[in-house]
Amino acid sequence: MTSEPTAIPEFNSFNLQPLTGSLGAEILNTDLNLASDEEIAEMQQALDHYHVLAIRDQKLEPNTFHKLARRFGPFSGNPVHVPLEGFEDVVRFTRGAEDQGPVVGEQLHMDLAWMKIPPGTTMLYGEEIPPVGGDTLFASLSAAYEGLSDAMRDLIHDLVGVHSGKGVFTLNASHATAFSVKESGQQVEEIETEHPLVCLHPGTGRKHLFISGALCRFVGMTEEESRPIIDYLLSHAQRVEYCCRLRWAPGTLTLWANHCLLHAAINDYSGQRRVVLRSTVAGIPPVAAGD
Ligand code: SIN
Repeated sequence: MTSEPTAIPEFNSFNLQPLTGSLGAEILNTDLNLASDEEIAEMQQALDHYHVLAIRDQKLEPNTFHKLARRFGPFSGNPVHVPLEGFEDVVRFTRGAEDQGPVVGEQLHMDLAWMKIPPGTTMLYGEEIPPVGGDTLFASLSAAYEGLSDAMRDLIHDLVGVHSGKGVFTLNASHATAFSVKESGQQVEEIETEHPLVCLHPGTGRKHLFISGALCRFVGMTEEESRPIIDYLLSHAQRVEYCCRLRWAPGTLTLWANHCLLHAAINDYSGQRRVVLRSTVAGIPPVAAGD
């Protein structure tokens, strides 16, 4: 499948402010509890183009957050985290002021990359946010792909990555104060899923890398052969010009295009409380970029 990337459209329902030259945008002065279908459709388009959308000053509770998430599409499923009581699709991540050690998601990653169909969109809503710290870092895998040389693009074009769930249950189970894990989540450790390395965003025709910390080798190659390429791509994708650091406030709702980004929670708010709601929207199987 080939196509030329589409131009960024004009939006009628809101004013949007890009956050960096590579990715990310902010929307102010809108109330998502009153959003029309046109506004939701335009937000999806904005997400396709900017990859990260921070919508400020929202008033959401688990039920309104759930309803809003489902307007962006069906739930992706989540084999690991126990949802909030009464919901299938909403998880609360809590970091208490007294909690020590790693925060949830502090390594750059893609959510649930080892699923056959990883979530297309992740939504996080800030319930309690420290006055400073606890930002989220995003790295664009579209900008990273575009920053590779032609020779490197040719070299990796047809590779298929193997994404492993090994370590996922153990890591999540270690965050006992943040959320609970499903007992059945242990099966995730056995999962290995193949995804094309160079993919096409179906909404925009833009190419992106499909990499994450779960990528362990390429089909037809050994781990030793694969590792230098994986390490290079992961470090290349973290170049500062491909990144956007998002500052939160209570009431910020952030949506991100999970399959064309890496993201990390920044662990710099020791002694402070941070509480967010998370839901994920079903994606489509990653589309190989083709010729
Ligand atoms: C996540 O990795 O999904 C959490 C990101 C955050 O809490 O900022």
